[in-house]
Amino acid sequence: MKIEMKNIEIYKHLSWKIKYEAGDMPYPPVLFWDKNISSIDIKNWWKKTINIIKKQKVDHNMWLYVHIPFCYTHCFFCTCVTKVEHKENKYDYYLDFIEKEAKLFTDIFKDIEFNTVYVWGWTPTILTAKQIDRFYNILKKYFNLKNVSQIMTEGSPYTTTEDKMKILASHWVNKITFWVQSLDNETLKVNNRFQQFDDVKNAINFARKYWIKYINLDLMAWVPWQNLQWFKETVDLIEKLNPTTVHVNAFWPTKNTNYIKTWNKYNYENIKLRNEMEKYGKFLEDLESKITDTSKKNLQLYNSHNYNSSILWLWYWAISHAFWWLHYTKNSFDDYINFVNWKKVFLNWYKLNINGEIISYLINNLRWGIYFKNFKDLFGIELEKTKIFKKINILLNKKILVIWDNEKWKYIKFKYNSDLYSAIYSKYLYDEVLIKKFILYMKGNKKEFINLDLRLKQFFTD
Ligand SMILES: C[S@@+](CC[C@H](N)C(=O)[O-])C[C@H]1O[C@@H](n2cnc3c(N)ncnc32)[C@H](O)[C@@H]1O
Ligand code: SF4
Repeated sequence: MKIEMKNIEIYKHLSWKIKYEAGDMPYPPVLFWDKNISSIDIKNWWKKTINIIKKQKVDHNMWLYVHIPFCYTHCFFCTCVTKVEHKENKYDYYLDFIEKEAKLFTDIFKDIEFNTVYVWGWTPTILTAKQIDRFYNILKKYFNLKNVSQIMTEGSPYTTTEDKMKILASHWVNKITFWVQSLDNETLKVNNRFQQFDDVKNAINFARKYWIKYINLDLMAWVPWQNLQWFKETVDLIEKLNPTTVHVNAFWPTKNTNYIKTWNKYNYENIKLRNEMEKYGKFLEDLESKITDTSKKNLQLYNSHNYNSSILWLWYWAISHAFWWLHYTKNSFDDYINFVNWKKVFLNWYKLNINGEIISYLINNLRWGIYFKNFKDLFGIELEKTKIFKKINILLNKKILVIWDNEKWKYIKFKYNSDLYSAIYSKYLYDEVLIKKFILYMKGNKKEFINLDLRLKQFFTD
């Protein structure tokens, strides 16, 4: 198959569509998933996976991922489908569900040591200190966390208190991200978000006081209506707080944001400004590359890169991944209730064969580089001998992919370390059947091709 212009347009469109629908992960896109896997099947697939891990002594480094689904306010820029909830008894109700779900899996996972735990959310620090204590006790009771390398959580500065930090530290949490986004009060106010600089300072001090030493801060480049000067002031203040790492996320105008829902436009001027902001904040992002101690890296990313590790996700919405084959999600709250109550329910899923799993791994990791040796260790086959290598070779000949030989090992990566570039060209690795399905899906929607480059640029930065 040649890389023809026609195809590139399709890959571009596929990239835009997936990002606009608010999820560029996983492979294959959720757009193409089936909804016919039962809870019993899911348990069986996990059993099969665990047997392989145990029998073959695969170095796998599993993650446990838990979502805490409440927010204090709904921020205007936010792409997440969130729930504003202030009632503490609702948080207890949530914890009851997590406990039920953990119980469902405890037998299957009893011999598996989890390597990382990631407590993600809308706002994990919204729970009370007592509820946070109960939450971690549930995880420890039902899963083997004895040799965990990293327990990471996230929090918003304005819901973080000293007693919550103390409890988190007592449960071995050793990395925390505080979401700051902006320190400019005007910007925050128009985005329906209320936090003061002192909240951020206090949150960091509490974390340090209880020896949670790894502190990441998240900022956003172009929070709606923020100007460059205000962004620069935020960055300069953040630098003074001396965090371990900082992520500067570019604003995505997805269809879920209130920004787009209320008919605001996002044009080249906005994109240019956002790019300038990212450029200004880049020196903070570089802090990450200076970390040489592996245990301090983003271990979840590191593990999926090095081990293609499996993910058990508690709560609904996001995606669990059982190594080699299965991706599934409990897409709605109704599905979730049925699932934890062990009632008949069919969930969204996609089963990959080994070639599909290889494509998924390549798509997720080619941007960063894949060691040939690592690939062989993971999949038991040399990359050059896989089916997909024909396509890889075409990308190599076109110099879209390049091979590097460093002093130790040979590795392959996309030539440019750019979101847009890797998002588009990784679509070339998609299975032909999926591309055909996408073309069918697009029939009758031809006008969506208009302004494709602008639309794409809204989501990615070069
Ligand atoms: C799942 S969100 C959770 C945000 C968190 N609750 C907070 O208070 O900011 C994690 C990250 O997604 C990013 N995010 C949310 N909406 C976004 C958007 N429209 N575009 C780009 N990034 C977004 C933010 O940078 C945020 O740090
Ligand atoms: S940015 Fe965070 S706190 Fe704000 S609505 Fe989104 S998830 Fe909730």
